[in-house]
Amino acid sequence: MSLVVKNLTAGYGDVVVLRDISFTVAPGAVVALLGANGAGKTTSLNAISGLMADVKGGSILLDDRELSTLSAHERVEAGLAHVPQGRHLFPFMSVRENLEMGAYAPRGHAQRQDTLDWLLQLFPKLRERLPQMAGSLSGGEQQMCAIARGLMSQPKYLLLDEPSLGLAPIVVRQVMAVIGVIAQRGIGVLLVEQNVMQALKLAQHAYVLELAQIAIEGSAAELAGDDRVRKAYLGL
Ligand SMILES: Nc1ncnc2c1ncn2[C@@H]1O[C@H](COP(=O)(O)OP(=O)(O)OP(=O)(O)O)[C@@H](O)[C@H]1O
Ligand SMILES: [Mg+2]
Repeated sequence: MSLVVKNLTAGYGDVVVLRDISFTVAPGAVVALLGANGAGKTTSLNAISGLMADVKGGSILLDDRELSTLSAHERVEAGLAHVPQGRHLFPFMSVRENLEMGAYAPRGHAQRQDTLDWLLQLFPKLRERLPQMAGSLSGGEQQMCAIARGLMSQPKYLLLDEPSLGLAPIVVRQVMAVIGVIAQRGIGVLLVEQNVMQALKLAQHAYVLELAQIAIEGSAAELAGDDRVRKAYLGL
C-alpha cells in the first residue's frame, strides 16, 4: 500500500521532461522531491494527478491501482489530491466556497462537515476567514486555504507543489508544521520544495531530479549531509 511511480516517462507533446523515473510515497510519510528550476518537479506532480502532462510510459500505482489511464477527477476519487504551484484558488469566491469545491467529488462529499471541522482546527486562521474572498487573504492564508481545499477530498496521498513559495520564514515554519500533522494522520505527502533545508528537516526520504532523471535518492538525513546536495542547493 503506497503511491508507487515506476519507470515513469512523461512530458508535453513530443517533449520528454521525465525519463524513466521511479519513487515511492508510503502512507503517513513525507517524501521530498527536489531539483533545480525546470528540472521537472511540477511535471512529475502533473503526470501523477493527470493534469496537463502526458504519461508516455511506466506506471503510477495508488495502493496497487493503476492511475495513469484514469482521468484527473477519477484520480481524486481514487484518493489523490494535488495542491498546485501558485495555489490556484478561486479569488472571487469565499474561503468557505473554495473549501466546498474541494469536497465536490463524491469521495469527500459525505464526510465534508467532519473534514471541515478537522481542517478548521488545523488552520484556525481560516475559521475567521470563512466568509472572506480567497483573493483577499494573505499569502500564507492562501496557501493554508489551498492545502485545506485539497484535503477536503479526503485523500490518501497529497501532492504539494512549492507550498512555501513567497512566504515569510515564520509562515514557512507554520506550513511545514501543518504538513507534519497531515502526515501523522496517515496521509502520504509528496512535497516539492525550493526550501531544501526545511523540506529535508520534515521529510523522511528525498529524491533529487536532474536532467530528466532521479540523480540522487536517500534518507532526508543522508541528503542533508550529501556534498552534491549541499553544493547545488544549499550554497555550502
Ligand atoms: N505546459 C507545458 N508545455 C510544454 N513544456 C512545459 C510545460 N510546462 C513545463 N514545461 C517544460 O518542462 C520542463 C520542466 O518544467 P517543470 O515546471 O516541471 O519544472 P519544475 O522543476 O517544476 O521547475 P520550477 O522549480 O521552476 O517550478 C521545463 O523545461 C518546462 O519548460
Ligand atoms: Mg515547478
